[in-house]
Amino acid sequence: MSLNFINLIDLNDYPVSFWNEIVELGHKIKNNPFDYAEKCKGKIMATLFYEPSTRTQMSFQTAMLRLGGSLIGFDNPSTSSVSKGENLKDTTKVVSSYADILVMRHPVAGAAKAAALTADCPVINAGDGGHLHPTQTLTDLLTLREEKGRLDNLTIGLCGDLKNGRTVHSLCKALSCYKNNKFVLISTDFLRLPSYIKDVLDAHGAEYKEVESLEDVIGELDMLYMTRIQRERFASPEEYEAQKNIYVLDNHKMFGAKNDLIVMHPLPRVDEIAIEVDDDPRAMYFKQAKYGVYVRMALILTILEGNDTPAPLLFGKEKKICCPNPKCITNSENYLPKSFVGVGDNLICEFCDERALDN
Ligand code: NCD
Repeated sequence: MSLNFINLIDLNDYPVSFWNEIVELGHKIKNNPFDYAEKCKGKIMATLFYEPSTRTQMSFQTAMLRLGGSLIGFDNPSTSSVSKGENLKDTTKVVSSYADILVMRHPVAGAAKAAALTADCPVINAGDGGHLHPTQTLTDLLTLREEKGRLDNLTIGLCGDLKNGRTVHSLCKALSCYKNNKFVLISTDFLRLPSYIKDVLDAHGAEYKEVESLEDVIGELDMLYMTRIQRERFASPEEYEAQKNIYVLDNHKMFGAKNDLIVMHPLPRVDEIAIEVDDDPRAMYFKQAKYGVYVRMALILTILEGNDTPAPLLFGKEKKICCPNPKCITNSENYLPKSFVGVGDNLICEFCDERALDN
């Protein structure tokens, strides 16, 4: 089991000071990117994308190239030995012995953590199913730092697919660690924030409310985080059809918002933000995508130069029970340990954070 690297699986594995340092370094890099042009000369980053991506993959690649490093990897597992039936462990074990840092996106929750268990180099989670997306959160934190000047005392609206949106999950977990942030969770009943994320908000004493109407609350917000309805995570096309097109941010709704609101979106957009909003100075989503390069440069540097104490990957007890979440990596990669940690009366799966019952 590899414990000696700084893996980034979940930001909340580390203290807030660790993320703040990465965000601050991202800010410095943004102001003087060419000072960092040679910092990763001779280093190789592998990007293993088992799921489609534009921004995350290309911003990681751009970040490494701007640091002077080189790239290997795939963006379509069907052109790799995955199509021959190779398991996650073998692919990531081998690729991690070729590279100095491995960035992985996978459709199944807990996959990055599973890879990090046996990898020979640090692993960065670039999105694991509908679970977490910590480097999008670093991007979002840098955007807030640059555009709002603070990460605390914010009223934050999150709108759309709060159930399946991994960017929302990571962002809520992170922002609940800063003082006086209030969360306005705007979704249909069906797409509400999962209870394991609400548990984190509760544990940090963060105030939140759940509402259905964007129009009713937009005037309260300092930041509005719009999200796409995650079609690929729905059980059936009918379920998706019933949820799509419900939330559309347009100029009419923007009229009711504060002058210093910022609108963020991890992108890709489908139709939840009307194109007309792009010309509003409060629209920050394209700038946000650009900040993603600087903060990923900062993350790569921090990990490759890192002497920090790494977070232990597994801290729970192995149990003879299975995770009840069918979308958990432990249910598709059967060699993985069934590892759970006790939180209050609940047992939480170490890979996907779902609650399990101890029989
Ligand atoms: C997001 C993702 O992949 O989770 N995109 C991104 O990384 N910027 C959001 C999404 O796909 O809706």
